[in-house]
Amino acid sequence: MNSTIIELRNIHKAFGNRKILKGINISVSKGETMVILGPSGTGKSVTLKHITGLLTPDAGEVFIHGESISASDDKTIEKLRAKMGVLFQSGALINWLSVYENVALPLREHKIAHGEELDRIVMEKLGWLDLIPAKDNLPGDISGGMKKRAGIARALTSNPEILLYDEPTSGLDPVMSNVFNELILRLQKELHVTSIVVTHDMQSAYMIADRISFIYEGEVLLCGTPEEIQASPNPVIQQFINGRTSGPMILDHSETENKK
Ligand SMILES: Nc1ncnc2c1ncn2[C@@H]1O[C@H](COP(=O)(O)OP(=O)(O)OP(=O)(O)O)[C@@H](O)[C@H]1O
Ligand SMILES: [Mg+2]
Repeated sequence: MNSTIIELRNIHKAFGNRKILKGINISVSKGETMVILGPSGTGKSVTLKHITGLLTPDAGEVFIHGESISASDDKTIEKLRAKMGVLFQSGALINWLSVYENVALPLREHKIAHGEELDRIVMEKLGWLDLIPAKDNLPGDISGGMKKRAGIARALTSNPEILLYDEPTSGLDPVMSNVFNELILRLQKELHVTSIVVTHDMQSAYMIADRISFIYEGEVLLCGTPEEIQASPNPVIQQFINGRTSGPMILDHSETENKK
């Protein structure tokens, strides 16, 4: 079975006269983990924000379960969002709520659970991310890596069928990065969760990805399995995955965008 859960069809987006996305096409099947790679400033976070409906494309459409999120009313967007767990790049924890309350938020917001049931779900997710000792702390009083883990725990609380992660392992130590990688693999195997993960962490990308979409200059340069990406003769992809400082990749993206 190969049912498409998320489809971005020819997405274009400009901010002022800066064209960021120039026809992005990505399609993700049920239970698949799609990793998005690409240089800084290329539009990866902007792409994810189109999937959550936070940004509306100038042209093109985003479909979730065949429903167009870009053409939907607020109620439908809310319904589609309830199926998603999202980890923003900034973490976006609420500073005046404890780690526990931050993780409980999607359950309260979407009225999914309360009382003992809520407590059970929250404690389970805190346990997965090794956060139980920090559950009563405020975000300002925990380390950067712990904040990241709290963001991941919160994305998982509503048992979403779609997970969207922006840089989940940045700021995590190697052990915690692997805890995350194993969690993604487990959720995929046991619950057939569909995930999109934006990352610069090549080890994580190779471990979790079924396919990788490499975004460059506002377009998907190549979409393929980790093996296909590694074997690609494209010099930009080779420069990126090997972290070479010299090569054809345009490093100062903002400059070139302005000249176009
Ligand atoms: N709301 C906005 N208004 C204006 N410009 C924006 C907005 N959001 C993003 N941009 C610009 O779009 C470009 C792409 O941003 P984006 O955050 O998607 O990059 P990215 O690929 O996620 O980079 P990184 O790997 O550094 O996170 C950047 O130049 C950014 O400044
Ligand atoms: Mg980003």
